[in-house]
Amino acid sequence: MLAAYERATAALAKAQNVLVLTGAGISAASDVPTFRDAQTGLWAKYRAEDLATPEAFARDPNLVWQWYQWRRQLVREAQPNAGHYALASLAQAKAVSLVTQNVDDLHQRGGSPDVIAVHGALFDNHCLNGHAYQAETDGLESPPECAQCGALVRPGVVWFGESLPEHALQRADSAVRMAELALVVGTSSLVWPAAGFAESAAARGIPVIEVNPQATPFSPQATYHVRGLAEQVLPALIGTALESPTT
Ligand code: APR
Repeated sequence: MLAAYERATAALAKAQNVLVLTGAGISAASDVPTFRDAQTGLWAKYRAEDLATPEAFARDPNLVWQWYQWRRQLVREAQPNAGHYALASLAQAKAVSLVTQNVDDLHQRGGSPDVIAVHGALFDNHCLNGHAYQAETDGLESPPECAQCGALVRPGVVWFGESLPEHALQRADSAVRMAELALVVGTSSLVWPAAGFAESAAARGIPVIEVNPQATPFSPQATYHVRGLAEQVLPALIGTALESPTT
């Protein structure tokens, strides 16, 4: 009998329409800390969950703004890793819908052509009334004000307690419905509604491959749980699947 890893590779080789769901773990090897890692340096005394909220921004806009400026700088200095590149190569061979909870731009820089970013984008800004803000904010230590309405400008990411962007949500839902196989990479599967995409895919009965060094609340529903690091597992899994004669 084939081991789970070989069966996962064979299932990936066969599927033509693949849903990929990624979380912070895929960027860990690029030195972008995951959300549930303890923070380091200046920010060690804060928890990400306590800064990424509308309430935190209302209480102390400068503090939250500076945290995002720090994260922006960290991501600017980061490079995509082998996991990002492997997913880009998968998209050259198959119909891939890549749904990410990450707000970094490493999938895009790694060559993935079409990224559905359900938690927004770190480098976007809009004001508290929703007006887009295009001016440069690099180096600003406090949030600027909107030229249209004077409200404070904030990062264009989805905070705890906020709704997901409607368009991205619709695209993710349709990708879940169309997929023949799902690959769930580097997410703790703790944050809803994003965690629901993997659950819905599993409920459809398609094979679901989870790539994560740790077990998650989703693991019992995964068809195959490959316990390993995305930057190691994805190049091997995708490389072998794409070489397989069934592709
Ligand atoms: N390869 C694969 N998985 C990894 C790696 C790695 N190299 N390193 C860590 N992981 C796994 C961890 O085991 C964990 O399950 O990545 C997961 C990271 O979990 P979280 O930090 O909770 O990240 P994520 O699931 O993306 O968080 C969801 O929470 O704070 C919000 O909006 C934020 O999008 C974020 C959301």
